[in-house]
Amino acid sequence: MTNAIEVEGLGKRYRLGEGLASGTLRDAVSDGVARALRRGGRSRDEAADVWALRDVDLAVPQGASLGIVGRNGAGKSTLLKVLARITEPTVGVSRTRGAVGSLLEVGTGFHPELTGRENVFLNAAVLGMPRAVVAARLDDIVDFSGIGRFLDTPVKRYSSGMYLRLAFAVAAHVDADVLLVDEVLAVGDAEFQRRCLGRMEDLGRSGRTVVFISHNLDAVLRLCSTALWLDGGRVRGVGRTADVVDDYLREATPDAGRRSFAEDPDSPVSLLGIDVREADGGSAGRLRREEPFVVEVDLGVRERVPGLDLAVSVETLNGVRLLDEALSDTAQSGPGPLAGPGRHRVSLTLPPLLMPGEYLVNVWAGTTYETLVWEHGAARLRLEGSHQARPDRLLAAQGVWTVTAAAPR
Ligand SMILES: Nc1ncnc2c1ncn2[C@@H]1O[C@H](COP(=O)(O)OP(=O)(O)OP(=O)(O)O)[C@@H](O)[C@H]1O
Ligand SMILES: [Mg+2]
Repeated sequence: MTNAIEVEGLGKRYRLGEGLASGTLRDAVSDGVARALRRGGRSRDEAADVWALRDVDLAVPQGASLGIVGRNGAGKSTLLKVLARITEPTVGVSRTRGAVGSLLEVGTGFHPELTGRENVFLNAAVLGMPRAVVAARLDDIVDFSGIGRFLDTPVKRYSSGMYLRLAFAVAAHVDADVLLVDEVLAVGDAEFQRRCLGRMEDLGRSGRTVVFISHNLDAVLRLCSTALWLDGGRVRGVGRTADVVDDYLREATPDAGRRSFAEDPDSPVSLLGIDVREADGGSAGRLRREEPFVVEVDLGVRERVPGLDLAVSVETLNGVRLLDEALSDTAQSGPGPLAGPGRHRVSLTLPPLLMPGEYLVNVWAGTTYETLVWEHGAARLRLEGSHQARPDRLLAAQGVWTVTAAAPR
């Protein structure tokens, strides 16, 4: 199979402080950093160079879809800009076969003073589409973008979402063999994002090669058969998307894992440890929104406590309590397994009810009469996944409906 993209020994070095002419905030910030470093007495060249990409090798077969993941500043956008020939590599080579369409960071390609319609023609021309072809496809492009009656408004009056929708619509209707897309899902509503993903899937199916950068790992999993993980400008992993995303997530949450606490000598009951992990026994640090997870609590009981109960709650970082589960071990005085002395491991499996984000897990233990353990934020957990996915597991609140006849107006 022929490769649509071939990259060998690619490196891209930025000289901090040289980017100011292009006037972006990032460049201005970089410039400030460079000056601060120079004041520190190091020579300009050591201090002010950033290798945004280093030793990157990559081959993408025609018709494949490649996802690129990595932290902020990992070099993802830089790689796309090199592939799109918007920027030159410092060392190495990058080859693409066929026409390349790209949707890079919002802000590239559109002229603020021109109307949406004028920008469609301009943008499509830049991407190599003849005017007659654009005219024939204008309705499709406008339909897809959903900007409708704003077509003849200068795009400087557009919201960033409208701007992006139109830019994506153009990129998606150009006859490109290779489509490069940088983080389109950051802007735009859920409906539009679904359409973008659908369109990219269609393009992929029709033999186009798609390279897609996103922090939305669910979208990457859905769209891309292979993925590339960039870390500090270098390739950390490449291969099957599920494997690469798993490796990336495992490293992205290094503070996951069992946490231990010292025994409280003044209390008959102590929290000794807590762990939050995937329910299927997978390794820690890979909690995904759509999978159940387990909170495992180690409790030390020094002397028998009748009616001992344990509760685990989950709250958002700003204190909104979302889940509360009590073990309600036994009848008030019954000698349940928890009540006796020893070290007990108690596991609570929670269904996938929460949206992606960070949460605190709190542990309470005690009886009806007293609190013996209260550890607020005993563990912190992060659920990865898509915010866009419909919350298809809403709690049924069991509210009471009533219907009465309304008085006629
Ligand atoms: N024009 C520039 N001048 C100087 N440094 C730059 C320039 N563009 C990018 N960089 C630097 O290169 C590195 C890689 O940036 P890049 O934008 O490719 O990262 P990214 O992976 O796309 O990050 P994000 O997820 O935040 O979009 C960063 O250290 C960044 O500061
Ligand atoms: Mg980027």
